[in-house]
Amino acid sequence: MKFRNAYITLLLGVGLFLSCTQKTQERQIAIIPQPQMCEFGDDVFTFDKNCRIYIGDPSEELTRVAGFLNEKLATAAGFTLAFAEELPLEGKSVCLMDAGLPPEQYALHITPGRIVIDYGDGAGAFYALQTLFQLLPDAIFASGVQLGVRWDVPCGYIEDAPRFPYRGMHLDCCLHFYDMDFLRKFVDMMALHKVNRFHWHLTEDQGWRLEIKKYPLLTEKGQWRKETVIGSLKSGVYDGTPYGGYYSQDEVRAFVQYCAERYVTIIPEIELPGHALAAIACYPELSCGLEDSYEVATRWGIFRQVYCPKEETFKFLEDVFDEVFELFPSKLVHIGGDECPKKSWQQCPHCQALIRKEGLKDEYELQSWFIKRMEKYINAKGHEIIGWDEILQGGLAPNAKVMSWLGEEGGIKAAQQHHEVVMAPHNRYYLDYWQADPDSEPLAMGGPTTLRTMYEYNPVPEVLTPQEAKYIIGVEGCVWTEYMPTPARVEYMAWPRMCAIAERGWTKAEKDWDGFARRLEAHLGRLDHLDVGYCDAFYNPYIVFRKDTEYDRVVTISVDAPDAEIHYTLDGSVPTAASPVYEKPFVINKQQKVTAIAMRDGKQIGKLKYKTF
Ligand code: ACM
Ligand code: ZN
Repeated sequence: MKFRNAYITLLLGVGLFLSCTQKTQERQIAIIPQPQMCEFGDDVFTFDKNCRIYIGDPSEELTRVAGFLNEKLATAAGFTLAFAEELPLEGKSVCLMDAGLPPEQYALHITPGRIVIDYGDGAGAFYALQTLFQLLPDAIFASGVQLGVRWDVPCGYIEDAPRFPYRGMHLDCCLHFYDMDFLRKFVDMMALHKVNRFHWHLTEDQGWRLEIKKYPLLTEKGQWRKETVIGSLKSGVYDGTPYGGYYSQDEVRAFVQYCAERYVTIIPEIELPGHALAAIACYPELSCGLEDSYEVATRWGIFRQVYCPKEETFKFLEDVFDEVFELFPSKLVHIGGDECPKKSWQQCPHCQALIRKEGLKDEYELQSWFIKRMEKYINAKGHEIIGWDEILQGGLAPNAKVMSWLGEEGGIKAAQQHHEVVMAPHNRYYLDYWQADPDSEPLAMGGPTTLRTMYEYNPVPEVLTPQEAKYIIGVEGCVWTEYMPTPARVEYMAWPRMCAIAERGWTKAEKDWDGFARRLEAHLGRLDHLDVGYCDAFYNPYIVFRKDTEYDRVVTISVDAPDAEIHYTLDGSVPTAASPVYEKPFVINKQQKVTAIAMRDGKQIGKLKYKTF
């Protein structure tokens, strides 16, 4: 990084600095995602109402960014800072200085009398503030004025820049629908973790959620399913209650702006050619016409009713994208592309004739033809497409990016073909998977995928050459909402695992699980203030049985929280510090019940867990 504001930098005292995660006298420094470089000293800068804000190159944008500091202080500390016209030479100040840094980068110089934020764009200044908030006492995240708090920030120096340009979080608002208040809270959480792409899943078999003026039925009718499956998608039991919800274009426009002010770009997803049943239920002429009637899906899964690649379908999709482009400024749009069964196309005379006319080998090439045709239209409108792995089938569209979810293979293939890739492998980055023992967790789609598993995943596959690895542009955590009917359940599934994905997307440093987990423990205090209903399973013992013989099981017990010791019993009694310490796998028989707790420094952390044969 280069720093233009030498004058400002010269004003700073240079102290004796400690490293990033070291404790200052009062508390641990715990920033998530971890900055690239930081050093801290023993002094503090203390915010009070006499402190002022100075913006070196004032603009509407930077004034708005600085406003986030005042908003936090007003809410939690009960005062705001006045803006200074000139660089304050006396008294305490926070100075935002355009240092010509690359996008999203920032530096923070904190001395007892002054905080200097160096940035190159609004995002950099905004991210500097997110870091600054995490250097303040947790109470800065409170929703009401906190009395008796000293608003101290440790003195030090931070240089920071993202590892990847694309740091995404997906939310499926089709399987379940969430109101705008929750979406804003969701995006606030993303911004706090420097996550900059909101992948908004808006169309599905189970509901169409985006108002399209030209096709009003999409929301009048397509938002509704007549009922919803109860429990597992295969339960065969339904609740008999109509379920719907959609976002009006006015709501979308306001939300786009809300996100933009937090440096989050919305990537809207309009699914094609599969996952289209809600649209087809409204406009059956978009299908291959093989069924007597079409209904919005009432259970989760994959449906054979897909768009038929005929002119009226393309006209419909082009019209839909025209309105999408009006609403969403993002250059990149997501076209889905996943899980498109080929059965209808095999039986459809039009599709078969099209395959012959275009000299295509099969229905996979027909899918590729479909997507290439849509890409051509979208590119001509100045936008680019990203699609799930399956858009590789039958050949990638020339300019498409790939979101790799089936594993790593699609991402590897695409990168080797010099297409940009976002890594979202389901067994690592799907947040609808269990995060702990399925026996004691709410219903989920797969897994388990623990917090630690997510943290440990390396999103740049090792088989890629350094040249190919450059095509990995980022990571994304995906929240598919089959089993998340409420915002509370979304938060439970998403956090703190998304903290791990955010850190892997931002921080260049080598993995350090213990360091991350320790910082996370402090970070959870912030999430408490923010009223985020996260899961704290990583503090709990995780008991696994493996079949040995008919009568025996091999037991392993683990805990992901660092510096913890597991104590267990086999007679059903509650373990204490005096109970045996788990050291290695052991065998139990049918009469025994494993009960375990995790302890640190003689105190229980997390919950008691047990498992019976
Ligand atoms: C997907 O999970 N079907 C992309
Ligand atoms: Zn067809």
